[in-house]
Amino acid sequence: MCGIVGYIGEKQAFPILIKGLHRLEYRGYDSAGVALLNGGIKIYKKAGKVVALEEHCFGKDITGTVGIGHTRWATHGVPNDINAHPHFSENKKLAIIHNGIIENYASLKEELLQRGHHFESDTDTEVLIHLIEDIEKNESVDLAEAVRIALNEVVGAYAIVILSNDNPDLLIAARKGSPLVLGIGEKEFFIASDATPIVEHTKNVVYLNDEEIAVMHRSGELSIKTIGNVVRTPYIEGLELKLEMLEKGGYDHFMLKEIYEQPHSIRDSLRGRLNTYIGKIKLGGFSEYEHKLVNAKGLTMIACGTSWHSGIVAEYLFEDLARLPVEVEYASEFRYRNPIISADDTIIAISQSGETADTLAAIQLAKSKGATVFGVCNVVGSSIARATDAGSFTHAGPEIGVASTKAFTAQVAVLSMLAMQTAHKRGTITQSRFHQLINELDSIPEKVKELLKVDEQIKYISDFFKDARNFLYLGRGYNFPVALEGALKMKEISYIHAEGYPGAEMKHGPIALIDEQMPVVVVATKGGPYDKILNNIQEVKARKGRIIAVVTKGDKVIKDLAEFVIEIPETEEALTPLLSVIPLQLLAYHIALLRGCNVDQPRNLAKSVTVE
Ligand code: G6P
Repeated sequence: MCGIVGYIGEKQAFPILIKGLHRLEYRGYDSAGVALLNGGIKIYKKAGKVVALEEHCFGKDITGTVGIGHTRWATHGVPNDINAHPHFSENKKLAIIHNGIIENYASLKEELLQRGHHFESDTDTEVLIHLIEDIEKNESVDLAEAVRIALNEVVGAYAIVILSNDNPDLLIAARKGSPLVLGIGEKEFFIASDATPIVEHTKNVVYLNDEEIAVMHRSGELSIKTIGNVVRTPYIEGLELKLEMLEKGGYDHFMLKEIYEQPHSIRDSLRGRLNTYIGKIKLGGFSEYEHKLVNAKGLTMIACGTSWHSGIVAEYLFEDLARLPVEVEYASEFRYRNPIISADDTIIAISQSGETADTLAAIQLAKSKGATVFGVCNVVGSSIARATDAGSFTHAGPEIGVASTKAFTAQVAVLSMLAMQTAHKRGTITQSRFHQLINELDSIPEKVKELLKVDEQIKYISDFFKDARNFLYLGRGYNFPVALEGALKMKEISYIHAEGYPGAEMKHGPIALIDEQMPVVVVATKGGPYDKILNNIQEVKARKGRIIAVVTKGDKVIKDLAEFVIEIPETEEALTPLLSVIPLQLLAYHIALLRGCNVDQPRNLAKSVTVE
């Protein structure tokens, strides 16, 4: 959460910073600000989105070839102008932007107050820049050394960039726990929370590691050392990201674009891994560790949010196909629960961003106990991708809408391949069944394409339910996690209260809510528990609930029971979530739109949750 961006070079910094902030706005949009150096540091900051900052800057002096910018997801202090970043040091000769939380800020602040410092904001960040100035002055060290000493006193997570009036040719950046990428140009540097603000300027990047401090000089010189004072050689990597992936491409919203991208994004997840001719799956990242999965006694999935729902789909897949017991854990609970982990354990961490603080910490905990940890991540170069022993990227491309859509189906596609391959190697499915599943998985992108034609129908249905105050989602078997995901989409972007339940659990509570006002989305595709979910539909109908059913094409039985029926193409039961989730994504999208909600940037949420 929070997006940070910086520039030093010969160009004007402001347009680069603003464009970068727009790209990073998915990380938080409570306030935005920039600091520019040109005859003293000028800070402009404003509560609200980046456009509010742009308006605020109109007509002001925004010149300068070095600067920093920030878009905030508030933690310490309400989202107002004062708490917006950047923050000044006491003598206003330093400015800082920060993503993360300084946990011991209160005690540091207390000490600094006693030493005569004054604070304007309620933030932990302002404390850090005062501390750096204090050290620079009182210990007579240069700025980089002052940053290093200060960071040794800090408990918590940070990605920071510092601008200095007395060092106009320098930008200093450091990270621990929060991501930071340096873009290396011709005598210029770009700094950002991820590569999206950098890609149009340079393809050469350095991903900073935890506890590293980078000093970037306008001459093009870059030096990196750790907070323990060990000099590091920068490792320059090439970016594969393309600019058009970051734009809306004619769609009204990123979310809609990303829903519509799914035939391609699922294909990209399968590409080079699924071979229907010879009936083979090859997930390169896992090959070396395949024995670990094949011989595992069980698996643990750790994730948060939508990725946790993918974990439940994986539970069903691994248990059903590979006959492996699976636990699915919220990373935040797992890490604080004193979990029983040993060197024999095999863990799969699932994350779109690869930066979720709880998931990262859970991985570190599991690794410290000797467990093997695999990653299923979307963002290449992310912290989780680098912290895990091995794994696979989902290759869904950048997901910008805060509500996850194509990342979910890409995760499920990768986890399906992994489960199928493990089952094949463990001998729990026959060769012909393996072939059948491979062929069916290969046909999913085409089926998604066909399925997207339901968009118009869903738009029509949405109009009937746009004023609903609650939604209930029911699913059984493989469709249970889909029900959870559908409900999550609805509450995230439309702010309608929505709950997902396994169909049978309805009678243990939620049934009490059902009346003629209550929309109940039932994911009732053909397969295992079909008859049982039919019973649930009857139970809802008997209580006058309004049923929207997602069914397999041609289902006549449910057509007679439900108020609205959305058909999806027939597929293998194990692969159903890849299809059945799509109408639910569209339903949430259209209802949110009709309610006038900001679909891509729902209130209070952020896409990359780098605080616990
Ligand atoms: C946030 C996002 C969700 C996402 C969750 C986990 O809450 O808004 O869309 O599912 O974080 O993020 P991850 O990047 O680890 O999948």
